[in-house]
Amino acid sequence: MMVNEEIPPVGPFSPRFSRRGALRSEWIYGSGYQGPSSDEIFEALIARQPVWAGMDVLEIGSGLGGDAVRMATRYGVNIRAVDASADMTQLCLDRLAAEPVDGIRFETGDVCTMELAPESVDLVWTRDCLMYLSERDRERAWSRLLTALRSGGRVLVTDYCRGESPSSPAFEELHNSSGFHLVNQEAYATMMRRVGFCDVTAEDRTEDLLASEVEGRARLVNDRDGFLEQFTSGEYDQLLKRWDTKIDLSVSHQLTWMVLTARKP
Ligand SMILES: C[S@@+](CC[C@H](N)C(=O)[O-])C[C@H]1O[C@@H](n2cnc3c(N)ncnc32)[C@H](O)[C@@H]1O
Repeated sequence: MMVNEEIPPVGPFSPRFSRRGALRSEWIYGSGYQGPSSDEIFEALIARQPVWAGMDVLEIGSGLGGDAVRMATRYGVNIRAVDASADMTQLCLDRLAAEPVDGIRFETGDVCTMELAPESVDLVWTRDCLMYLSERDRERAWSRLLTALRSGGRVLVTDYCRGESPSSPAFEELHNSSGFHLVNQEAYATMMRRVGFCDVTAEDRTEDLLASEVEGRARLVNDRDGFLEQFTSGEYDQLLKRWDTKIDLSVSHQLTWMVLTARKP
């Protein structure tokens, strides 16, 4: 067994998004996910930006494909699911080969450089991904995505954000070691309007993030032996510490979770 006692810093293309890192995060978040995974959260997001058979969805930062598979199997969308980590894509392709689902195309790509045909997409869907881009790159990425959308095309984003409470050293340590570039929710919405989106709404759903963190922590503590069948005790300790920090920072509203919707005019 490969032994990796250290969890490396999180960030695009970092080992955090390696095969092992992806499987470790999936263990705590739930099958197919690297972030809040409950059916309730997924369906609440779909209720905000409905999808239907045959529409063209572009998912950015699709991770292990949980949302792509749900959207394709339940709603019949055509989805191009793009992730910067080749290991994530490979895991998705292996699983798709074992259990085929129509309408999904998994590929490796970086939102900043990938090929994007103008006016080719009905919905851009991106969950907990663009927080890894610098503010400048994020704005450029949204400009590119606006061009890729058809007129009237829509957007759904979830992302970690800064809260309004002053940030503690613990927040800054998590922020920097994770490779985040977090802004507050209003600043994110303002940037989307500046890029050219309309009907921009940003809703604070930190309670959903917190519920997912608390559930993941309980899974870890209640099934320590199960975790140790695949990973090391060093990884267990670091993950538990990281989850405790995230829970504290979410409770104190330094770390928040935003659901943003928008539309191309
Ligand atoms: C925290 S995970 C979330 C994955 C998935 N959306 C979910 O909720 O389960 C963030 C994902 O974004 C991907 N990512 C980071 N930077 C990216 C970029 N510039 N372009 C595309 N994907 C990126 C990472 O490889 C990782 O799979």
